[in-house]
Parts: sequence; structure tokens; C-alpha cells
Amino acid sequence: MGSERYIQKLNSFPTPFYFYDMELLRRTLDVVTSEAGKYGFSVHYAVKANFNGRILAEVNKYGLGTDCVSGGEVKRSIECGIPASKIVFAGVAKSDEEIRYSLEKEIFSFNSESRDELEVINRIAGEMGKKATIALRINPDVDPKTHKNISTGKAENKFGISYTEIEEVIDELPYLKNIDIIGIHFHIGSQIRDLSVFEKLCERVNTLQDWFIGKGFDLKHINVGGGLGINYDDPQGEPIPDFKAYFKIFSDNLKLKEGQTLHFELGRAIVGQCGELITRVLYTKINGEGTKIVLVDAGMTDLIRPALYQAKHRIKNLTSESTRTENYMVAGPICESTDVFTKSVELPETFRNDLLTMESAGAYGRCMSMGYNLRDLPKEYFSNEL
Ligand code: LLP
Repeated sequence: MGSERYIQKLNSFPTPFYFYDMELLRRTLDVVTSEAGKYGFSVHYAVKANFNGRILAEVNKYGLGTDCVSGGEVKRSIECGIPASKIVFAGVAKSDEEIRYSLEKEIFSFNSESRDELEVINRIAGEMGKKATIALRINPDVDPKTHKNISTGKAENKFGISYTEIEEVIDELPYLKNIDIIGIHFHIGSQIRDLSVFEKLCERVNTLQDWFIGKGFDLKHINVGGGLGINYDDPQGEPIPDFKAYFKIFSDNLKLKEGQTLHFELGRAIVGQCGELITRVLYTKINGEGTKIVLVDAGMTDLIRPALYQAKHRIKNLTSESTRTENYMVAGPICESTDVFTKSVELPETFRNDLLTMESAGAYGRCMSMGYNLRDLPKEYFSNEL
């Protein structure tokens, strides 16, 4: 969003590239911090959504912590000034090296996902003469009602400690002297637009935390992960997700105990709408079925979401002056049939050299780009630096 305002400048850059509307990012961070602040909730930005240092520096200015999924993300957070005391590290298979690095930096918490992993963290912490702070990531078996490839909290998924194993894990804990259980953690999936799903999550968390307390645990922290979705169909109509309703659901439904802190790990909802992928039209042609095809210089290597999740990013022609519209398929240059951004979009008549934008690409866009076909990774430009 916002690229229209900078069109002259953007039209002079080599394509494809990502453009970020930093004013929208700030407005979004304003809303997140004020809405979460009403309840004293603690928000960690999920670095996996966009690990760009300038984005992280902005997040840091608003006092958010980070949620990391690799040693690289923990390191990037620290380099960007995020205090280690606000960093959580989730990840279904953390390497020994990543664990050692995070212990050395004394991060706030590891979200631990299995008994095996707890044993390894315990051993490494012992070798380093440290005590690791841990939140147990439980798989709550809640259906997030989102695309199957981005749901994480159903029994069938690889994430978290399953209901069937919790008992066994708990029995082992007294033998793990170098870990300190400070809370429980959940993350059920991403791009969740049906907020009732979070009510369901709250119900599960209430039951589970009572169970843990019954077993003698003192849980100081509850972490409910991220997952709040954005409006891909109408980014202009809803540039900032409904954080007010989102946080209120947790305030209304989650029964926090005295002195407990509630943590969130939001990625897409914070950065999704502020980013766009800008690309140039190389060729147009018509396929054997009579479909008009616009071939652009961005491909699935730059934005893989349509190929991977059949995701729809709104496409606009930023430079066409035609008053006639046409229906087009928009596809990229990669040697894969899945390298199609959309099979059907109504655009003003489009020609070679026109500049197109794919909106709502701030989250899981540039960070998922790759060098397949020996392509360069797309550059990134920021509205406040143009
Ligand atoms: N916490 C954990 C443990 C996660 O695994 C994730 C995302 C988040 C927080 C942040 O979720 P968010 O608030 O952004 O929904 N590449 C996919 C999304 C994968 C999400 C992975 N985990 C996409 O492009 O839709």
C-alpha cells in the first residue's frame, strides 16, 4: 500500500523489488501497542514474517519483543537492539548450536516442543552452568480454519507436545535440573480470520492451565502465539487488522491467574499490509484457450505464497492510462507451471513496461524468496528513504 504516492521514483528502480510503506507500519504498531497495552499484554513480533533489519528496528522502537524460529533470527533480533529479555525462541527442531547461542545470550524463554528437546536443552544448560527458562509448547488440537499448509495446532501436525505425551514429559521434569518451566505456549496456525477460533483456543488454554496447576506448576507466563490474519481481498478497506477485537477476545475468555502475563507472537498482522512486490511487464500473449497472459519479471521465487498456498495478492497496474479493462492471467518467468500469480484478474489494458504491484506482501514475501533458476533476490525499498 502507498506505492502510488511514490510512483515516479519507484518507476525508475530495476524490478522486481519490495516496497514498504513505513508510515502504515508505524500506524499499525501504534494500534498494536495501545490495544495490547490496555490489558498489559506482552507482544513479540514474529521475525519469520519479515526479518529485514529496518522493520525490526521500527518494531524495537515500539518496545515489542521478538518471537524467533532459528538462531539466525535470535541473532538478528539482538543485532537490531531487541533486548534478549524480550526474545522467545520457538521451533520444532532447534540445533545444539542454536540452543547454546540462545543460552549464552540469556533469552527470555525457549518454547520447547518435545521431551527429547527438553533433555538436550537441559544437558547443554548444565554444560554451560546455566538454567534455561522454558515454556512448554502444547499442541492443543484446535482447528484454525485456515489453509491446511499453515495450520500448526491440530493433532496431526508436527508441532508442540501432544496430549498423548504431556503426562510422560511432566514425569521427566524433576530429573531435568537445569531447566525452569515458566509457562505454557500455543500456536495454532496463521492467517486466521474467523476470530471465534481464538475463543476456542482460550477454552483449551483454561482447561490445560488448570491441569498444570493441579500438578503443582507455577505458570507465570501464558503464550498464545500469533495467527491473526489480514484482509488480502481489500487491503485499502482494512489496512490495519482488528487488534481491538482480537485482544478483547483473550481478555474476555482467557482466565489469567494472579500475576500471570499473557504473551502474543504476531507476524503477518503487523507487517503484512505495509509491503508490496513491484514488478514490470515483460510480455503479453494469448494462450491456446484464448486467455490473455501478462508475463512479469517477478516470479514465484520472489513471492511464493500463490504457488504454495494458492494465496491471492491483489494486483494493480500502477502506470496504465487506459480506460478499457481486460481479464488477464498474470504469470512469472520461472520454469514451473505453478509460477502463476493469478489465473484471472481485471486490469486496465496492460502492455510491456507497465509497472504492476502485488499488495499485502509485507509478510512471508521477501523472507521466503529464493535463488531458484539462479535469480537474484529482490531488493527492498522503504518509503521513508526514497
Ligand atoms: N508463532 C509461531 C510459533 C509460529 O510458527 C508462527 C508462524 C507465528 C508465531 C506467527 O504467525 P502469524 O502471526 O504471522 O500468523 N508462510 C506462511 C505462514 C507460515 C507461518 C508460520 N508460523 C504464509 O505465507 O502464509
